[in-house]
Amino acid sequence: MIPEPAPNVRQLLAFYLEAGVDCALTEEPVDRLAEPDTPAVPAPARETAPPRSAREMPAAMPAVPRSEIVPAPEAAIALAREAARTAPTLEALRTFLENFEGCALRNTATRLVFADGNPQARIMFVGEAPGRDEDIEGLPFVGRSGKLLDRMIAAIGLDRSKAYIANVIPWRPPGNRTPTPQETQICLPFIQRQIQLVNPDVLVTLGNPSTQTLLSTRDGIMKTRGRWFDYDTGTRTIRAMATFHPAYLLRSPSYKRMSWQDLRAIAKALEQAN
Ligand code: URA
Repeated sequence: MIPEPAPNVRQLLAFYLEAGVDCALTEEPVDRLAEPDTPAVPAPARETAPPRSAREMPAAMPAVPRSEIVPAPEAAIALAREAARTAPTLEALRTFLENFEGCALRNTATRLVFADGNPQARIMFVGEAPGRDEDIEGLPFVGRSGKLLDRMIAAIGLDRSKAYIANVIPWRPPGNRTPTPQETQICLPFIQRQIQLVNPDVLVTLGNPSTQTLLSTRDGIMKTRGRWFDYDTGTRTIRAMATFHPAYLLRSPSYKRMSWQDLRAIAKALEQAN
């Protein structure tokens, strides 16, 4: 049998892209199967034979780098709640997040994507999670959907200097996969505290995940968009509106008309709260 020719670099990259692997995590490749530098601690002698699957495991498992060990989800959620509750400022919250090891997403992301815009703004927009461009720049909504968000913000007479922008999840999930419910629960106290510290008059949730997470609804975006919700920041109740995520509008431009209606209602609410 004639062996298949080895794929060239272009074919390999195309294969990786299709599998959702679209960025390098480090400059140098890491061989996870290589022998660890330090031998694993030998297992204590057992009196009975270990189960079959354990007997088949290699004697020394590759060591997991310390920085990649994350606490159990319940512990991480408790830690996140406590840290978020006690962070006195946005800067303190950002610094804590920079060092927070409770969410495994930080190990695959390039950098933390905390927020952009003006912390004194009267309006705050919250998306789901950073994508590739945001991961590279460390700022939310800087890619294609970010350009459309800028236009949506301009439609209500504002720009990033008069708005505050963040995401429920501050690290890019690998390959832009959907964040798991656990990851969302771990990150939730941080965005809630961010909202409390920014204390805007109007909160705008972009798309389903952000709306369902922050406004505690199970309804889909077709039902929630354009509706006013009460959002309790913990210190006061503010008005919150759900609207379409700009990435969705890029895929389905016919919904831009409805999004425009939502934006007009948002502009009116800002005027009234003045
Ligand atoms: N989509 C999001 O939800 N957030 C970003 O920052 C970019 C794209």
